[in-house]
Amino acid sequence: MKIGVFDSGLGGLIVTKSFLEELGEYDFLYYGDTKNLPYGDKSAKEVLEYCIAATEYLISKDCKMIIFACNTASAVALRYLQRSYMPKHHPDIKVLGVVVPTVEEAIASSSKAIGVIATQSTVASHMYKVEIQKINPDIKVQEVAAPELVPAIEGNDFVKAERLVREYVKKFENIDSLILGCTHYPLLKNFFRKYLPRGVMVISQDEFMGRKMKEYLSNHPEIVAVLGKNNEHKFVVSKLNAHYENVAEKIIPGIKIMDA
Ligand code: DGL
Repeated sequence: MKIGVFDSGLGGLIVTKSFLEELGEYDFLYYGDTKNLPYGDKSAKEVLEYCIAATEYLISKDCKMIIFACNTASAVALRYLQRSYMPKHHPDIKVLGVVVPTVEEAIASSSKAIGVIATQSTVASHMYKVEIQKINPDIKVQEVAAPELVPAIEGNDFVKAERLVREYVKKFENIDSLILGCTHYPLLKNFFRKYLPRGVMVISQDEFMGRKMKEYLSNHPEIVAVLGKNNEHKFVVSKLNAHYENVAEKIIPGIKIMDA
């Protein structure tokens, strides 16, 4: 059986790269829902419907464990899937997200005030704030939606993205770390590090999600026992576009993307 990774598009490849670096021997199936991208400005109901469809697709392709690499999907839909949908329909399949491991990583750097920059939907869900304050209610959390960043990255306009980062970071006051709470933002981490005040830690998911996942598997031998380890890595999207291969190639060299 495989590890399924799901994202609204190709941004999740950034985190997938860190999975492959740490756990490359495992069989992975990546599914990018490019037909419905972006999720960041969709309603919670729409995102939930897409997430259920993606989960069903990955299960139909023999995934035993599914990771929502998409922050918006993790923030808006994961709880419902974990608490209601999966126990009812697929009690033997694990579904995990990126929010909780990211929160753990931020808190491990002993923050007193954490900033979160994310899509509109992720900020509206307040999932990051809730999860941070569940662990430590004394931590102050400031959440800022950055609706213009994903379109700038998708449009390959990094000059604009840099200008936007410079403006967005001004909205944070006295934070000691900043969570980049969107799949695309690790591509901008150097801009964030350049424009944030000195000493503010940037929590970028590409830098620790592989390690977190490895730790998770080492605590779950029952999952490891059923996972294939044939080094097979397959990448599919719900709507193929000639441009995608170039975008993906920049993230994972040599990648082949197919229609789901
Ligand atoms: N994958 C989304 C996230 O991590 C960003 C792109 C989108 O809006 O779909 O929030």
